Amino acid sequence: MSKFYVTTPIYYVNGAPHIGHAYTTILADAMARYHRLKGDDVFFLTGTDEHGLKIQRAAEERGISPQEMVDENSQKFRDLFERLELTHDRFIRTTEDDHRKAVETMVERMRDAGDIYLDKYEGWYSASDEAYYDESEIEDGKAIASGSEVEWVEEESYFFRLSKYEDQLLEWYENNPQAVAPKARKNEVATFVESGLNDLSISRTTFSWGIPMPDDPEHVLYVWVDALTNYISAIDAFEDTDNFDKFWPADIHLIGKDILRFHAVYWPAFLMSAELPLPEQVYAHGWWTVEGEKMSKSKGNWIDAFELADEYELDVLRYYMMREMPLGKDGNFSKERVVERNNAELADNVGNLVNRTLSMAQGFIDGIVPTVSDEPTEDEDIELRNLCIQTREAVDKAMNDRQPHRALEEIMALSGETNNYIQTVQPWTLKDDETRLGETLYSALEAIRFVAVLLSPFVPDACGRILDGLGTDDDLRTIESLDKWGGLEAGTEVEKPDVLFQKLEAPTDDDTDEDEDEPVSDDETTDEEGANLISFDQFLDVEMRVGEIVDAESVEDADKLLKLSVDVGDDTPRTVVAGVAQTFGPDELTGWKVTMVTNLEPATLFGIESQAMLLAAERDDGSFALARYPDDVEAGTSVS
Ligand code: MSP
Repeated sequence: MSKFYVTTPIYYVNGAPHIGHAYTTILADAMARYHRLKGDDVFFLTGTDEHGLKIQRAAEERGISPQEMVDENSQKFRDLFERLELTHDRFIRTTEDDHRKAVETMVERMRDAGDIYLDKYEGWYSASDEAYYDESEIEDGKAIASGSEVEWVEEESYFFRLSKYEDQLLEWYENNPQAVAPKARKNEVATFVESGLNDLSISRTTFSWGIPMPDDPEHVLYVWVDALTNYISAIDAFEDTDNFDKFWPADIHLIGKDILRFHAVYWPAFLMSAELPLPEQVYAHGWWTVEGEKMSKSKGNWIDAFELADEYELDVLRYYMMREMPLGKDGNFSKERVVERNNAELADNVGNLVNRTLSMAQGFIDGIVPTVSDEPTEDEDIELRNLCIQTREAVDKAMNDRQPHRALEEIMALSGETNNYIQTVQPWTLKDDETRLGETLYSALEAIRFVAVLLSPFVPDACGRILDGLGTDDDLRTIESLDKWGGLEAGTEVEKPDVLFQKLEAPTDDDTDEDEDEPVSDDETTDEEGANLISFDQFLDVEMRVGEIVDAESVEDADKLLKLSVDVGDDTPRTVVAGVAQTFGPDELTGWKVTMVTNLEPATLFGIESQAMLLAAERDDGSFALARYPDDVEAGTSVS
């Protein structure tokens, strides 16, 4: 069995979580879920980074103790991840005891390697970035890269011999092309290392909120030494359990592009010094802009992660973020795009496919998976099967290449092709050919299983409901179950799930953050061209049958209404209130066979519950005409 260890950055707890924090953790969650579905032993780590000058100052500003502030804010992240239904195996806090012990051991190992010495630091520091900067990286009192303010620092400090690791780092990048990704980021880091590394100041004496330097408690460890070590402390490094041996090295450290240097230069150097294996991959994703602009509190376009979770269904949010932002590139968060992707890709493509197929399965084959031959024989079915198998492989490749947006593209293409397949084979025309009808519905249902299993790490709730609807057990929800076609078993009962994806209305110009996008139901269309059209699937939702009027009487005080008793093929006739009394007298209609809608919600008129609806044509003068069926058409016959 393979293992998969994925980490997110641990988040600073000086404030509340925003869209960037939600994004990385959702991304890691989708990767973790995907690998679990592959049967891998997965460890998914996230948590909070709670020490350092930035945190201490934020607490001072609020007039509370750092401990009080980190407890409060760390809880917000924990709550957020619960709200987002994330599946992390550990939420680490750097103020935890086992973490502190691991950091101490790590530093002792670096010291034992001869890599730590005492000196004096003189230079620039940004508390906001928790980073040291060279003179060349500063302009007008600010770090060029981040725009954060810097301050001059002069104090005694322990140093780590980062310069010693220059060649080893360059070799690591060279020999492991996937180690730092995307490639452009690797080049950026390699150039930085080639330009020469200074030793790194790893302790401070002018503040106290951190882990003390072992054997010299006057010094507080640099927060990045403390923070980076979370990736191994969380899996019990230096402890007597097998977690570390099992999971280390990490398969992927997911990070944002701004913290690349810490992860791709400092962290591997610390590990080399401590004689520990290096991570398989450090992957830097881009940043979200918001409606085309850099997100900032002062611009008022800050997206709070809880508000995001309140505004959108989790499935929609997850799908949008992972589909919209190619991993490694920046992405733009736009409400309009969320609506577009939701409506066109989730609702109209996947939702429609599942709806129409399961409606047909229920209507045409009693909701029971039919028996078909092991291998499809018709060209269309063979093509669909091949596409399913290819998509499963393409998704796996995309996930290994860390391109979840491409995986989603492939899955959507399969869903679209399955819709096309249905359009081509037209199961509704095959009612007289039971074998072919069964084959086509089987193919469509099995293709839906492929779509739902592959999509489930990204869109877990709806896919879980689709797979429930298909009656699949856990074995049929794994990636392995997609190795071959035909997993869905004959005789399984299938059922159409409730609305999977609500259509959303496009945001209006004056939409503000407070505005709720009222969802409209799947049944309505907001597409102007299609405003008067319903999908075939929507049509299938209306159940019509031949009804024989067995009795009719007037309704007291309602001169337009007749109370009909209509045989629609059920055990007993239904009561129907129809507004045709000014055209037909009560005696006239008995024995007529007409069209009835039989799955409308009952309505009560003049105290009488009407259990079906009579279809009639209304002339301009307000009188009605009824279409009648010949006598040999039996009551209850379905009309379509
Ligand atoms: N505590 C450090 C990480 C330590 S890891 C050992 C830290 N924390 S942070 O809370 O400031 O940032 C966490 C992550 O959020 C970073 O990966 C950063 O890139 C990411 N993002 C911040 N703004 C973002 C966007 N607008 N979009 C996407 N991600 C963004 O750094």
